[in-house]
Amino acid sequence: MAQATLDFSIEPHSNLVADDVRASLLADPGFGRVFTDHMVTIRHSIDKGWHDAKVTARAPIPMDPAASVLHYAQEIFEGMKAYRLADGSTALFRPEENARRFRESAVRMAMPELPEDLFLKSVRRIVEIDRDWIPASEGGALYLRPFMFASEVFLGVRPAHEYLYVVIASSVGAYFKGGAKAISIWVSQDYSRAAPGGTGAAKCGGNYAASLVAQAQATEKGCDQVAFLDAAERRWVEELGGMNLFFVFEDGTIVTPPLTGTILPGITRDSILTLARDQGLDVREEPYSFEDWRADAESGRLLETFACGTAAVVTPVGTVRFAGGEFEIGSGQAGQLTERMRQALTSIQRGVAPDPYSWVKRLS
Ligand code: PLP
Ligand code: COI
Repeated sequence: MAQATLDFSIEPHSNLVADDVRASLLADPGFGRVFTDHMVTIRHSIDKGWHDAKVTARAPIPMDPAASVLHYAQEIFEGMKAYRLADGSTALFRPEENARRFRESAVRMAMPELPEDLFLKSVRRIVEIDRDWIPASEGGALYLRPFMFASEVFLGVRPAHEYLYVVIASSVGAYFKGGAKAISIWVSQDYSRAAPGGTGAAKCGGNYAASLVAQAQATEKGCDQVAFLDAAERRWVEELGGMNLFFVFEDGTIVTPPLTGTILPGITRDSILTLARDQGLDVREEPYSFEDWRADAESGRLLETFACGTAAVVTPVGTVRFAGGEFEIGSGQAGQLTERMRQALTSIQRGVAPDPYSWVKRLS
């Protein structure tokens, strides 16, 4: 495809952040606050298709107040990490999966599909130019945020005719302040994240906007994250605001909610399913009710619950709170299988364990 071979013009930053300033920013980056020197942009219009691919200094994006994204929220994004491997090289984890999901999100939001090759090229370009921003600390990574929005200046309600695709990068440590410690979850019984036929399986900004009032409620209740139930029956556990969920039982089975179109098909979720199945574990993608979650935690049949995602990696859930009370999972600390899956996944991601699935894509 001609557009996949689109060349990037490279206009490096003329005033890079000084080495000592960068070093102090990378000492404790937190999540999503420290940004690198550059960004990638590619434009799309009906007439020209994908064009004007650039790597430039990271800078504000001039925008007309009538740009349609500001009104109708036609926007999608991805989240992925570049790692520094044990041998000093840099690598991406399953980037083709992000490229594919980005294309699928675009289809759902009536946006143009960015060819997967071009997506992959764009993320490689930013990692190549900003590789010094990968923190050396354990758990540190360069979080890449490819996104696309409707930039057409038009207030009519229809799919826009012009889009801007951008990739920015952020040096990150752990997503949660407590690092890998168990988190607490607030179960939202009032608000839904996604309904059948809606946009739940797409990674669009609107899903996160819809989750924020429930996330704010979770924070108010002293919890780290919100868990959503299905919109139709308010019965089945779906996922967290920004992570998928797994449940580990006493009899050795592992359950995660199925991909019915209302939850995000997480790449970490898929990786854990693969790892667990290949370890001979009995893994099931099946609905699990909030009622059972509570009863099983109380009876001891449920041993562990963990959340997973690019930002959160694998994070144990210790406490679950809801309007009528709360319950603890296991001892309230990280369980054995959670720790084993975290180790198995991160060892592959960091290049310290064999990678039989060819998930790790080295850049250099
Ligand atoms: N669910 C939601 C709502 C998310 O935002 C994310 C994070 O991207 C995930 C699940 C996990 O997806 P992944 O493992 O691909 O990062
Ligand atoms: C990610 O894990 O990449 C996400 O998009 C989730 C968000 C909570 C940062």
